[in-house]
Amino acid sequence: MEKMEETLEEYQYIKILESGRRFMETMNKYRCAIMEVETKLNVLNAEFSLQYDRNPFESIKSRLKSPRSIIEKLHRRGIPFSQETVEELVEENLYDVAGIRVVCAFQEDIYRLADLLLRQDDIHLIRTKDYIKHPKPNGYRSLHLILEIPVFLEKGKTPVKVEVQFRTIAMDFWASVDHKLRYKKDVEDEALIVEKLRQCAETISDLDDEMQRIRNMIEAGDRKNAGKEGKRNHAEN
Ligand code: GTP
Ligand code: MG
Repeated sequence: MEKMEETLEEYQYIKILESGRRFMETMNKYRCAIMEVETKLNVLNAEFSLQYDRNPFESIKSRLKSPRSIIEKLHRRGIPFSQETVEELVEENLYDVAGIRVVCAFQEDIYRLADLLLRQDDIHLIRTKDYIKHPKPNGYRSLHLILEIPVFLEKGKTPVKVEVQFRTIAMDFWASVDHKLRYKKDVEDEALIVEKLRQCAETISDLDDEMQRIRNMIEAGDRKNAGKEGKRNHAEN
């Protein structure tokens, strides 16, 4: 990611934002939206654990974009801003101020969870990017949803956007390492490194497919045994 060269003016601007009441209120809306979506995911987790005796996800991490990153992104996109317009610009242009990352063990759980979230009538889908079915050229895989959820504040109900990224443990491993490598500069053979990373993503994706097949085999075995058990009980009665 290209870093903004910080001038004194920009530094002062970040400081003004950090102390500005309106900006703080905007950030608070995003913070509340994260809490709402996290709660929805935790509710689904609790229900899954009871019904199927397993958790649909391994972990949830969330983050609020910092004022610095917000300014960098508006700057990068060439969107001119002033203190008066920044809240509106953020709401219209940045969909990832509130970010949640959900890490699942199996690919099927990703789609199941996403579907269960989207079926809730207070959630509105703004955009889907399915980098699992259509990986990025570098091999990046994840399912990205931009959701809009109402947040109830003193002044009333306000819709807030949240970016939710769903990944398997394996995809998360790849993305974390990829992210770390991005900061290493001056590599000699960049094309070769990019290709090697893409191959790693392929290998990881094959492993995910294999793990999913293993789980399907186990579940099919469980269903067969449950069927036999049912028949035996029926015969004994
Ligand atoms: P951003 O300006 O980066 O938010 O791009 P975008 O709005 O086009 O969104 P996109 O859905 O492509 O990616 C959003 C986020 O996904 C990024 O901020 C990263 O967290 C993650 N991501 C996307 N591509 C990659 C990648 O190649 N490697 C890693 N490690 N993460 C990625
Ligand atoms: Mg982003």
